[in-house]
Amino acid sequence: MDKLLISGGKPLFGTVEISGAKNAALPAMAAALLTNEKVVLNNIPCVRDIQTTGKLLSKLGCETDLEGLAKNHCCAITAQNVTSYEAPYELVKTMRASVLVLGPLLARFGKAQVSLPGGCAIGARPIDLHIKGFEKLGAAIKIEHGYVSARARRLRGSKIVFDRITVTGTENLMMAAVLAEGETILYNTACEPEVVDLANLLRSMGAKIEGDGSNRIHIQGVPRLRGAAHTIIPDRIETGSFLVAGAISGGEIEIKSCRSDHLTAVIEKLEETGVGVKKRSLEHLTVTAPREIQPVDVDTLEYPGFATDMQAQYMALMTQGNGTSMITENIFENRFMHASEMVRMGANIKIEGNRAIVTGKTKLTGAKVIASDLRASASLVIAGLVAEGETLIDRVYHLDRGYERIETKLKALGADVRRIS
Ligand code: EPZ
Repeated sequence: MDKLLISGGKPLFGTVEISGAKNAALPAMAAALLTNEKVVLNNIPCVRDIQTTGKLLSKLGCETDLEGLAKNHCCAITAQNVTSYEAPYELVKTMRASVLVLGPLLARFGKAQVSLPGGCAIGARPIDLHIKGFEKLGAAIKIEHGYVSARARRLRGSKIVFDRITVTGTENLMMAAVLAEGETILYNTACEPEVVDLANLLRSMGAKIEGDGSNRIHIQGVPRLRGAAHTIIPDRIETGSFLVAGAISGGEIEIKSCRSDHLTAVIEKLEETGVGVKKRSLEHLTVTAPREIQPVDVDTLEYPGFATDMQAQYMALMTQGNGTSMITENIFENRFMHASEMVRMGANIKIEGNRAIVTGKTKLTGAKVIASDLRASASLVIAGLVAEGETLIDRVYHLDRGYERIETKLKALGADVRRIS
């Protein structure tokens, strides 16, 4: 199992290029199941979850070309000869986003068998709202032996109100509805940029979708969809992670190939703490570390609120704030696993339910720490950048799921970090 060894205390300077958004690439790859023609995706990040999704699509019988992934960040998928409709437990347990094949398989083939993803480090993460939505579209769903078995002659459009906002739930139901008969209206939908990116791809495939990016999405079903070429949006969470890394390190970095309008809440919150963030253009940000970091409370919320995927990284920054801040996690029930690891590095963090009270400024010292999930591991890397001495982060496979070559990018900015296999 790979580890990352970081020797802290080096301010970061230089330029980093942001990769494509994993959470936009995953639904886009699943959307290729909706047509028998080729779908070409560009700006795909070369991360483990993409490879896992490629494996799953090949298992279903798709022609999946990931040859261009490492060098050109592109892939091509043709779902012409789908022979299986099952996403097995072995795959789904490593990547819960595999549930995103449910909607397209149901819509195009009328059947799907997907292992229930089970919980993960950050929470139970049920998919009851996905299932309720499919039933509203006329699918017969059985849950047995840990699998969701779905059947439908042809999905019929309907009105669906999500009991709570769900990102992949919105994406799954959009992909189911585009081939359903008649009109579907989705209410209380997620507004994340990744949802809009998926809608843009689906429209380029011939789907009739309006309202994406708002809390109500109108879809007019069409008989079939065609192939398309689509460029994935930049990763707003990787962007936010590098903003925090630059701020905590005491340096100044240029962040390029990003979409600054996709993380307004994060930028505004960082500016409140005293961090300098300059928007050179839509795709180019400059982050400058302040002499003093002010403690500022934050609540995680659905988009356009402060992203839950930035909570752990922000907590690392608040350990260097001059005073006490309160971090409230409103999206997931168990997303403070990183706090105990930071406490071992010298942070002063108290957890009370879904609240973390962080008292800074505390000197962090390097330690052996364990990553528990994707964003927790990013927060430990960030803490390691400012900690005195060496931090050894174990289980960095979590990191590799969603960050492309993070140690290479950090090293290019002057960080003392290396991967130990
Ligand atoms: C997506 O997960 C992202 N993953 C997550 O990113 C992100 O943290 C999350 O959205 C919130 O922004 C992908 O896009 C692949 P939800 P998702 O459904 O869709 C509850 C990362 O680090 N819920 O919006 O699974 C759920 O338990 C990952 O890249 C139900 O109760 O999240 C949670 O409390 C981590 N029933 C809340 O809703 C359901 O049927 C939001 O979950 C679905 C969700």
